[in-house]
Amino acid sequence: MRIYLETMGCQMNRLDSELLTGVLRAAGHEMVADPRQAEVLLYNTCSVRQHAEDKVHSRLGPDLRRKADSHRPILVGVLGCMAQRLGSLLPARYTGLDLVAGPGQLAHIPAMIAQAAAGKPAFALDGADCAEDFDAIDLARDASFAPQRSQAFVRITRGCNKRCAYCVVPAVRGPEVSRRPEHIVEEVRRLIDAGRSQITLLGQTVNSYRWAEAGRTVRFSDLLAMVSGVPGLRRLRFVTSHPIDFGDDVLAAMRDLPNVCPYIHLPAQSGSDAVLKRMDRRYTRSQYDELVDRCRRIVPGVVLAGDFIVGFPGETDADQAASAELIRHSAYKNCFVFKYSPREGTAAAQMPDDVSPTVKRQRNHELLAVQREVGLAHHAGYVGRELEVLTEGPSRRVDKQARLPQPGRMQLVGRTVGDHIVVFDGPIDLAGQYVRVRITGATSLTLFGQRCDD
Ligand code: 5AD
Ligand code: SF4
Repeated sequence: MRIYLETMGCQMNRLDSELLTGVLRAAGHEMVADPRQAEVLLYNTCSVRQHAEDKVHSRLGPDLRRKADSHRPILVGVLGCMAQRLGSLLPARYTGLDLVAGPGQLAHIPAMIAQAAAGKPAFALDGADCAEDFDAIDLARDASFAPQRSQAFVRITRGCNKRCAYCVVPAVRGPEVSRRPEHIVEEVRRLIDAGRSQITLLGQTVNSYRWAEAGRTVRFSDLLAMVSGVPGLRRLRFVTSHPIDFGDDVLAAMRDLPNVCPYIHLPAQSGSDAVLKRMDRRYTRSQYDELVDRCRRIVPGVVLAGDFIVGFPGETDADQAASAELIRHSAYKNCFVFKYSPREGTAAAQMPDDVSPTVKRQRNHELLAVQREVGLAHHAGYVGRELEVLTEGPSRRVDKQARLPQPGRMQLVGRTVGDHIVVFDGPIDLAGQYVRVRITGATSLTLFGQRCDD
């Protein structure tokens, strides 16, 4: 059948969609980019903020109306986190919905489509028993299928044990389970053999990875050493990290293993001790500050990125000022700032959502403005330097293309080891290749430069 699959949410969801695409193709289905051409519409959904769920609701109504009006049958399915969170509420609200599947059920989607096509709606949520074969879909991966030419994500953990007061993830993705290290190494090996040279290890909190079996314990730092040894692996990255699990062993591995990139996405969420405590983040402001200092001391040239939530219950102007100050102290390359969104069933949902939408918006703008300054200073520090860039492809800033001099050349975009975005001119066939670029300019989010051998 012709299938349209749309992905919302985080990188974990994008990886899930990539793996699911492989499974669907292997089952003989065809993926299409235009929903109007599709016989099956699938949404791989996110629940982390209400906004993400609202987007899906806004699709399902029209899709199901179209299905009811249409002469040819269409199947509509909700997959992933929102499916798991809302469960049977979805078919109760949406008559005609054909498929509801939790994030651990993706290997079963072809069978569920077959069932739904036979006229019987298919419904499968993750249960307590799904941990056992949770990496079946990862192991079955078709390494030659590459949405990105030179980079791939590899899951190392699934779920989360942290229980931050605002977060719905532990409820929808379940408790944290680590994959067997040999499975991870083997998957990386296959991806490298298929032409990839950059691997990003993925987990909700990658640095709490732990595999223990028969007297053997593999920590995250040990896993980094194992994976970094795969021949042909040029860049090894990982996201996301939780500040409390960042031991010196991980920082030493980053310093000592030449292909591990000096980049850490280290969500702080708030700079205020009072808010951090209510969020149940398990660290204080000064512990986070010390960690940032430790990262900078041990890993030369380390680049940090952050996440913040504004408008958490009870957040005052003084708490907000503390977050702004933390952004300055951490000197992040970039920072994601989210307006607090109460999630049913979380500890924070019991607290009054007492910061008004207007104040949340103001605080959001304020932190982004501080980050713009900090980001500009960070990026400006690279002007004049020569950096290695993995070319991704044409820059989306196509407006500038018209002004480029020679035919066959265009504005390209790539990334440094520190995850900086670099825009430079060159021939399109550089996509997927490593080039050296001299940096000539910077904005708060982007570096601009010229290829050294140009
Ligand atoms: N409201 C707003 N932002 C949230 N995040 C997680 N849960 C919520 C919520 N309920 C943010 C955090 C996290 C990122 C993925 O999303 O900053 O790091
Ligand atoms: Fe990813 Fe969390 Fe959103 Fe699920 S709820 S898609 S795990 S961010």
